[in-house]
Amino acid sequence: MNFRFLSAGESHGPQLTAVVDGLPAGIPLTVDDVDPWLEKRQGGYGRGRRMAIERDRVRFLSGVRAGRTTGAPLTLVIENRDWKNWQEIMDPAPGSEPRKRALTAPRPGHADLSGGIKYGHKDLRDVLERASARETAMRVAVGAVAHKLLAELGVESAGYVPALGGVVSHVPFTWELRERIEASPVRMTDPEAEVEAIRRIDAAKAAGDTLGGILEARFRGLVPGLGSHVQYDRKLDGRIAQMVMSIPAVKGVEIGEAFAAAARPGSEVHDAIYRSEERGWYRATNRAGGLEGGMTNGEELVVRAALKPIATLMQPLPTVDVVTHEPADAARERSDVTAVPAASVILQALVAIVLADAYLEKFGGDTLEELKERVARYQERALEY
Ligand SMILES: Cc1cc2nc3c(=O)[nH]c(=O)nc-3n(C[C@H](O)[C@H](O)[C@H](O)COP(=O)(O)O)c2cc1C
Repeated sequence: MNFRFLSAGESHGPQLTAVVDGLPAGIPLTVDDVDPWLEKRQGGYGRGRRMAIERDRVRFLSGVRAGRTTGAPLTLVIENRDWKNWQEIMDPAPGSEPRKRALTAPRPGHADLSGGIKYGHKDLRDVLERASARETAMRVAVGAVAHKLLAELGVESAGYVPALGGVVSHVPFTWELRERIEASPVRMTDPEAEVEAIRRIDAAKAAGDTLGGILEARFRGLVPGLGSHVQYDRKLDGRIAQMVMSIPAVKGVEIGEAFAAAARPGSEVHDAIYRSEERGWYRATNRAGGLEGGMTNGEELVVRAALKPIATLMQPLPTVDVVTHEPADAARERSDVTAVPAASVILQALVAIVLADAYLEKFGGDTLEELKERVARYQERALEY
């Protein structure tokens, strides 16, 4: 790992924190590079009341001075505004039993039951506070920093929603549609699908139900040869899949047309190779989604993920209370109806972390200038190859 980070913080604790290690010195970086990402993650039609309370803003506590990274570990902090309502409940000092807002009815589809058994908690809040997707706010902030590095290397990205609650977008993604995606409350390319998706979210909310969907992220401008074929843990597709599967509620991941391609013959799946003086090596199709042999091939990277519906239902499923062992209705912690639009932002941000790591692994460099020179030299060589 060259771009390393750890995050900490509970959903209703005072703050989320991350320390990022391995950033070259000299990357231009201000809070304005990060805060718009946090805003996008908070948005999307179908979010719960929590997101109306939070107004996520990042603070840098180390590793950046006068708007540039110094090469030292970067510490990021996001305060939880909601904490002021939870100070007593989240107080680290010894407190009274039974605890306030204790949660004993594990939600099917959430971390509550397995986490309770594993860590020996009978107040399942001790599980859900960290299992909550609130932690992704910090990972998106780290992804924003990764994006800043990638932008310096000529890489750009997009994140959007091809399907939500069974409503499929029929307008294929183009880079020109990015503004429409950013303006769409469900981050869809297709205005008709958007209207229907919103209708379904409203209906699910009225029924106390929740919705899942498909997320997609794209990256263009990547050099060929990030990752490697030589060892299992260096394969970039495997590294991307790990990161994507770590997004709460993601249950499937595909690169390019993976699942559809599985039904077609090879002649209709693989992307024929071409070369020209001005473009170098290229493909006319990109069904592989920019990855072959665990390495980028210079085409657009296309990563898709399936997000299951939110586990917390306002019309709860049956469960069993972990204290009384009596049948119960699953807990109804304040919750979203759907997190699909937000998750597409998370996908985009987190894949960027894997790519930034792959760039630093291949090219190294203690300063941005050094890194850029190495990438530029390699790009020339790749064109001539
Ligand atoms: C942006 C986002 C917001 C989420 N919000 C909620 C929520 O409000 N309520 C809930 O039960 N699950 C929510 N989830 C999903 C849970 O965090 C997740 O299902 C749970 O941690 C169990 O993990 P698993 O689904 O990966 O197995 C959200 C997920 C994402 C990506």
